[in-house]
Amino acid sequence: MKISKLLFGLVVCAVSAGPLTALADDPIVIKFSHVVANDTPKGLGADFFAKRAGELTKGKVKVEVYGNSTLYKDKEELEALQLGAVQMLAPSLAKFGPLGVKEFEVFDLPYIFDNYVDLHKVTQGPLGKSLLKKLEPKGVTGLAYWDNGFKSFSANTPIMMPEDLKGKKLRIQSSKVLEAQMRALKAIPQVMAFSEVYQALQTGVVDGTENPISNLYTQKFFEVQKHLALTDHGYLGYAVIVNKKFWDGLPADVRGQLEAAMKESTEYANKIAKEQNDKDLESVKKTGKTAVHVPTPEQRLAFKKALVPVHKEMESRIGKDLLQSVYKETGFDPSKL
Ligand code: LMR
Repeated sequence: MKISKLLFGLVVCAVSAGPLTALADDPIVIKFSHVVANDTPKGLGADFFAKRAGELTKGKVKVEVYGNSTLYKDKEELEALQLGAVQMLAPSLAKFGPLGVKEFEVFDLPYIFDNYVDLHKVTQGPLGKSLLKKLEPKGVTGLAYWDNGFKSFSANTPIMMPEDLKGKKLRIQSSKVLEAQMRALKAIPQVMAFSEVYQALQTGVVDGTENPISNLYTQKFFEVQKHLALTDHGYLGYAVIVNKKFWDGLPADVRGQLEAAMKESTEYANKIAKEQNDKDLESVKKTGKTAVHVPTPEQRLAFKKALVPVHKEMESRIGKDLLQSVYKETGFDPSKL
């Protein structure tokens, strides 16, 4: 990462002082950094939290939202959070491996969740809570899970069957499960920061990618991808996280008010996620730049058959017990396709 940028952030946070040393009337500042557009489920969720945090703490807390990678990119933002240069993030669950918490990659397994209802049994239940606890030794406190949605493949050539992605260079997030997923399609996975994807697609550094429609639309990937297949082959969502030291150092009443603001924001973000993606799909269609293909049941089954073996392949990385616990919650049975 750009060390100068991070150092600048650290100096700013050192001179702006933490919650315990702030002057009585100074608001406690929470810098909330993220990489997506403001008009997305995560962007809108962050703005909602900023508003409610201000209201519920009666101005004692000021949340500053920095969207669209304006402050930090993917990997940088996690480092910045651990160092205290920012206080809050909502990275996608596919980005926690480099932090040393690879269990979150269970969410990347293709087809593991059929719909939001099954997914919420995990994210909004005890299993989700126990996964967040794994962040604590890293100096990170997990507060909530926010949805984006189910991913679709895009490229410049039609995507009807798994073979259509063979040999293609496809951008992925930094997840070993996603790497295995692309290899199962005989594609060539390329890890890349979200902020670099548009240009990489435009210049042909990569041929295609996967993302929920809200990201495809708001990052304008439709300008540089002629084909989109609504495969819904995997989930993309977020863990809202804070620097643990900062969080534990907050006055207890303020922390309680922020927890209440987070609860409301989670309900809001998870309510609008599907609506945003549906709305953005209509907008993509309207542009006329990207042909949208809805896979037939046979094509969907072919993708499932190609990708579900990734579960077994990644079992030892994710943990057999965790995988079985998720299956138990959702009823997914990899032997029955
Ligand atoms: C991506 O890198 O594709 C996504 O994680 C971006 C995001 O935060 O939705």
